[in-house]
Amino acid sequence: MIDIRTCGIDLNCWYVVASSSEVKDKPVGVTLWEEAIALYRDSQGKIHALSDRCPHRLVKLSHGNVIDDLLECSYHGWRFDDSGKCTAVPYLAANQKLPNCQIRSYPVEERDGFIWLFPGDATLAKQQPPLSILEWEHLNYIATVSVIDCAAHYSYLIENLMDMYHGHLHNSYQAWADPVLQDIYTDELRVDARYQAQSYYKIDKIWSISQLFIPALRRLHPEPLNVSYIYPHWVSNLGEDFKIYCLFCPIDRRKTRAYLIHFTSLNSFWRLHKLPVAFRRFVKNRLFGSAQKLLDGLVKQDVQMIEEEQQAYLNLPTQKTYELNKALMSVQKLILTKAKPDNIKPIGTCKLDSFNSL
Ligand code: FES
Ligand SMILES: [Fe+2]
Repeated sequence: MIDIRTCGIDLNCWYVVASSSEVKDKPVGVTLWEEAIALYRDSQGKIHALSDRCPHRLVKLSHGNVIDDLLECSYHGWRFDDSGKCTAVPYLAANQKLPNCQIRSYPVEERDGFIWLFPGDATLAKQQPPLSILEWEHLNYIATVSVIDCAAHYSYLIENLMDMYHGHLHNSYQAWADPVLQDIYTDELRVDARYQAQSYYKIDKIWSISQLFIPALRRLHPEPLNVSYIYPHWVSNLGEDFKIYCLFCPIDRRKTRAYLIHFTSLNSFWRLHKLPVAFRRFVKNRLFGSAQKLLDGLVKQDVQMIEEEQQAYLNLPTQKTYELNKALMSVQKLILTKAKPDNIKPIGTCKLDSFNSL
């Protein structure tokens, strides 16, 4: 029996290991499911990913430098190309050959503002592209990014995100109220949960943005609230104007990093769309991060709960818990299926009613 709170990940997926802005001209060390990885850019700005361990003395390559598009170890200066092959040793004698060492390189792509890495079988990487985030470049969407660092297994975070019944925690931070789960769709790659909720989030007039910050101005109206676990990431939308993603980087069994990206839509402001593209780009860039305080506030509240859950689990792993949200049962099934696909029967499409028999 696999324990959902310690289970592994499906390595044959694209994970987000950094935001584009985190990787500049120096190498950066990241960890994805216990694997230390060095990210670096070549002279064209193209991103590369190598195992973060110099084969010579096993120190971190991410502490080195990029010289002539090669990753140079800080200790003795051995250099590696983007395939992980050692191509230069500064003190190699005339009668010595380069060491025959090859470190692992990973498929890595930069798109939509993030660095995506495929930690599994590299031959499968091309078969499925990373999740697209069309709003990242689209001029009608204003992004805010909050980094989630939590000392907990990734299952706690995705369950938190799929569980719309925890609005109780967020109180006036939250854009919706009274969610009711309508139905759930599941297959071997995803879980979609459709809730109906009351929302005050409608960005159709300039003043309506102030509702986000001033509770007294809020007017509720019904909106569909959809949340999807598109393994291993999460996407949600509330009506037309609100879209949010959470891109996962599970670090190990007790640590998870994720990037929460909130988009506010300017679709209703049609006059704005007639302005020159350069101006619209300026507005988009200028307003980047405008929901930072709100988003960080939500994340802080969630992380506290998630870490308390993890601690309680560590104190007593056999302690029974109670779950009433049927969407979370689907999420757990998908996690377990992906963690060990050979052992668990694939899940199928199910209507909400059929969960009563689970
Ligand atoms: S440890 Fe990296 S070059 Fe010696
Ligand atoms: Fe939350």
